[in-house]
Amino acid sequence: MDFLKNIFIEMWFDVAAGPALETTFNNFDALNIPETHPSRDLQDTFYIDDNTVLRTHTSPVQIRYMQNKTAPFRMVCPGKVYRSDYDVSHTPMFHQMEGLMVGENISFANLKAILTEFVNKVFGETNVRFRPHFFPFTEPSAEVDIWWEPKGKEGKWLEILGCGMVDPNVLNNLSIDSEKYIGYAFGMGIDKPDVRFVIHHDIPDSLEEYFQEAGRAGRDEKKNPVNYKVY
Ligand code: DAH
Repeated sequence: MDFLKNIFIEMWFDVAAGPALETTFNNFDALNIPETHPSRDLQDTFYIDDNTVLRTHTSPVQIRYMQNKTAPFRMVCPGKVYRSDYDVSHTPMFHQMEGLMVGENISFANLKAILTEFVNKVFGETNVRFRPHFFPFTEPSAEVDIWWEPKGKEGKWLEILGCGMVDPNVLNNLSIDSEKYIGYAFGMGIDKPDVRFVIHHDIPDSLEEYFQEAGRAGRDEKKNPVNYKVY
């Protein structure tokens, strides 16, 4: 975790943290996640009471940070997150790292540059692909894939994070003037950069599926990644 955090510290990012117990407002509503979104379901999220959850992602730290700082700023926040999943490739607790930069004249090009630099530092020089996606709190949004070529096997794209330009609704909810300020954000499962290990040691395919799923940046394409025999 320190290794990943330090890459951003070198790029002048502040490091922030938030609590594991979060309000449903910070975890969902303030991030433009509607009442009907599947991630709000009792099946997916651990509710303590109607208004308190074990945070399902590190994105609510964006909200806390923006309530306490005035733009411009850039920050990352690594931490534990919780979802009601438990099978061979999912654990109820895993780790994410979130990033947020807000300022004037921020563009998608800045986001691309920062994340490409990050990927090159973690995985070495490899191709990076920004693939259009949807997240309620960013518009436009993308998923980032890296080209992954294990020794002696065919290469493939591996999804590593979600990102986008902060939706003006999120800024407006926090009384930040969205005409003046623009932001970008990203979030990644950081159990996954252990993919570095997989790249250097030729590990079986099923583990790759594990790493692919470990960050679970988007919930919409959730699938059971490993078909194992049930006796
Ligand atoms: N919070 C998202 C998740 O856990 C990940 C994510 C996607 C965070 C895009 C972001 C972002 O900040 O811009 O599914």
